Amino acid sequence: MSEEYLLDSEIEGPAEEALEKTLRPRQLSEYIGQDTVKSNLSVFLEAARQRQEPLDHVLLYGPPGLGKTTLAHVIAREMDAPIRMTSGPSVEKPGDLAAILTNLQAGEVLFVDEIHRLGKVLEEILYPAMEDFALDLVIGSGPAARTVRLDLPRFTLVGATTRFGLLSPPLRDRFGIVHHLDYYNQESLTTIARRSSSILGIEMDADGAGEIAGRSRGTPRVCNRLLKRVRDFAQVAGEPMITGDGARSALTRLEVDRFGLAQTDRRILLAILEKFDGGPVGLNTLAAAVGEDRGTLEEIYEPYLLQIGFLDRTPKGRRVTRRAREHLGYGIV
Ligand code: ADE
Repeated sequence: MSEEYLLDSEIEGPAEEALEKTLRPRQLSEYIGQDTVKSNLSVFLEAARQRQEPLDHVLLYGPPGLGKTTLAHVIAREMDAPIRMTSGPSVEKPGDLAAILTNLQAGEVLFVDEIHRLGKVLEEILYPAMEDFALDLVIGSGPAARTVRLDLPRFTLVGATTRFGLLSPPLRDRFGIVHHLDYYNQESLTTIARRSSSILGIEMDADGAGEIAGRSRGTPRVCNRLLKRVRDFAQVAGEPMITGDGARSALTRLEVDRFGLAQTDRRILLAILEKFDGGPVGLNTLAAAVGEDRGTLEEIYEPYLLQIGFLDRTPKGRRVTRRAREHLGYGIV
């Protein structure tokens, strides 16, 4: 996967990771954007607190970088509960999942990132755990095998996925609260840029914040990363404040264009235009042509290109739109 959209911690080391964490909102009132999710969730949280029960299980889905992990932390904090983090790929064996579940405290939030990557066997352990707060252990094998049911503490599972369609229906159905996170609008991203700059002690005018927000591809994680890089350019140039001009020039040097497209996005669109005559081209063929894997294209790059109307998904494959052609200087054909 190219570096542009990886987590900061994956490319920038522990100092940047710590910084990223300081930018995350801790409670719902600090969380900017996703207004529908926020207002519904605040009701469910309040109701659960009034009943002194854990919140029902929550499934959050949507493109990467939109705040699924952050929301899980916010939920735990709002419930005054501890949180335990894990992910689909990191839980390998039934025994690993059983150990996690039996070690939970009452009310704890269990966050499972990339929950679509839990295997079928592990999913089946989760069903009774989610529904009845019970763990069914099989003891022995063959005709002598029997099942023992262990009680688990009541907990809240928060599952996150970029691929709602890959979750099995029985798993999906066991979440009482399901929310889709959408790309953020310009206004929310501008507010996030301003909030982050104030936490980081960066001076920035409205034009600077708007410029960074507009090129953040609807994604707070990208917004915070661009802010930090634009700050680097301003600092080295001896400029005390991030202005619109400063941000534009830094972002141009970072090769992030005014739609927020970076190198890989352009490579994808140009490959369709130049090698496949604008499409339609099948996903596997396209992935081979740009040297990215199919899943990365589908989960990371395509959603935003679809959202801004640069790419079309047709039954015969992917096609570049007229809007994208014009943006890339290919005009009307
Ligand atoms: N930083 C990253 N995402 C955020 C959000 N949704 N609200 C406030 N600050 C953020």
